[in-house]
Amino acid sequence: MTAYTLGSLLYEGKAKRVFQTDQADLVAVEYKDDATAFNALKKAQLAGKGLMNCQISARLFELLEREGIATHYLALQEPNWMVVKPVKIVPVEVVVRNIAFGSLCKQMPIDPGTPLDPPLLDLYYKDDAYGDPLLTEARLQRLGVLTPEQRQELERLAMAVNNALRSFFAGIDLELVDFKIELGFDAAGQLLVADEISPDTCRLWDRRISDAQDRILDKDRFRQDLGGVVEAYGEVLKRVQQACPTPRTSK
Ligand code: TMP
Ligand code: ASP
Repeated sequence: MTAYTLGSLLYEGKAKRVFQTDQADLVAVEYKDDATAFNALKKAQLAGKGLMNCQISARLFELLEREGIATHYLALQEPNWMVVKPVKIVPVEVVVRNIAFGSLCKQMPIDPGTPLDPPLLDLYYKDDAYGDPLLTEARLQRLGVLTPEQRQELERLAMAVNNALRSFFAGIDLELVDFKIELGFDAAGQLLVADEISPDTCRLWDRRISDAQDRILDKDRFRQDLGGVVEAYGEVLKRVQQACPTPRTSK
């Protein structure tokens, strides 16, 4: 990959900044140390979070690629930067749940920790102004952001991501409870897994620990004020690093 020059800021989200480059087929993503929860009602700076999420995401995107799942990822750049293909993000957050936890248990009578077989797939409308509401079939159709075929492909990809990540994490003694992904269309109209895959967007429980709080190695430590957030992310990174090849870099 040839060197590029950083261009203007295209988008700033809660955890990342996306920059144009002088190459039309390349955008640069900076992972920030900002942590937010509950639609940014709760905020903090967590030193090293951006770097860890970037390093974890790069390895997981490469893992998905090896499994034949197309992603926007191109290469790691600086420790907390990666280069990716430009995509048009579908404003739908795709959540796959293997174990009941989080919002699911607040919205229906199901005990936290209940295994979900087959996994449950939930779609949310990605718009902070509306609080990212759960979509119904009819509302998704009304939104008109996906054709029925595209929606089918999005769900197929989400389930393939779940299969790949779940068995990978099991191999490093981590239980993939649930996760959120975002997908986008590239210039050719292909749907790619985009955004990030990290302890910010996955619930991960340490299979080596039985205590229900101590085993949490993801952003729930921040959401629930459990402390040790950076240490938990560091543990995930350590195990991911041990199990994955060093990611390719753009220079
Ligand atoms: P939930 O149980 O709060 O609906 O979360 C399900 C999964 O989605 C969990 O792994 C955390 C992730 N998630 C995000 O990545 N971003 C969000 O804004 C929310 C609400 C959840
Ligand atoms: N995306 C949510 C927010 O900032 C955070 C979460 O619960 O993951 O506020």
